[in-house]
Amino acid sequence: MLSEVMSHYKMVREFDQADFFETDDFKHTLTEVRHHIKHGRLIALTGIVGCGKTRMLRHIHHLLSKEKDILVSQSLSVEKSRLNLGTLISALFCDLRRSKNEKIPSQPEQRERELRDLIKNKKKPVVLFVDEAHDLHGKTLIALKRLIEVIQGAGGTLSIVLAGHPKLSNDLKRATMEEIGARATIFMLEGIQKSKEEYTH
Ligand SMILES: Nc1ncnc2c1ncn2[C@@H]1O[C@H](COP(=O)(O)OP(=O)(O)OP(=O)(O)O)[C@@H](O)[C@H]1O
Ligand SMILES: [Mg+2]
Repeated sequence: MLSEVMSHYKMVREFDQADFFETDDFKHTLTEVRHHIKHGRLIALTGIVGCGKTRMLRHIHHLLSKEKDILVSQSLSVEKSRLNLGTLISALFCDLRRSKNEKIPSQPEQRERELRDLIKNKKKPVVLFVDEAHDLHGKTLIALKRLIEVIQGAGGTLSIVLAGHPKLSNDLKRATMEEIGARATIFMLEGIQKSKEEYTH
């Protein structure tokens, strides 16, 4: 069926292999996200299933990696409910350390001190991307906010971009998360839904 539709409309690529479609909503969100990344924030991109969060995250990651003004890191762990501060710090070490032989400290105090110095010495803002972040535990969200502050206290800049279902924004807004409130910026993504209309009418 899909192959028939594709040949009828002379489509050469499957939908998930199509180039990124830049909506006005995306352009606006990108400008805002860029601004917040430079100022050490916890940023949440939230939206319903299939609205394009993963695609947007990849696109921002790609753009920033090309520009090189901001250093980019990404958590690749798939079991998000098991993800904790330690595993996210490991992701940062993996992407920022000078060589693969450099050991990642396992003792929390030492780990955080070394990360603080590593980011400070880079002299550029660092951003960590975490997809499917609606599965992160509340304690991990609070720990991330504190990590951002520890880095900032030493003169470095760390921002964390979380993408997830609307549950993530609800979690961040919850009363128990008050501590995070002032440091978090939440974006509700519309995705490409609105822009579809001009092509389907
Ligand atoms: N801006 C875009 N340009 C091109 N394709 C897009 C865009 N946004 C979404 N898509 C396509 O829509 C589909 C769903 O997108 P994506 O996987 O990013 O959604 P999601 O919000 O991460 O979904 P989930 O909540 O299941 O994780 C994919 O095939 C993706 O390639
Ligand atoms: Mg996704």
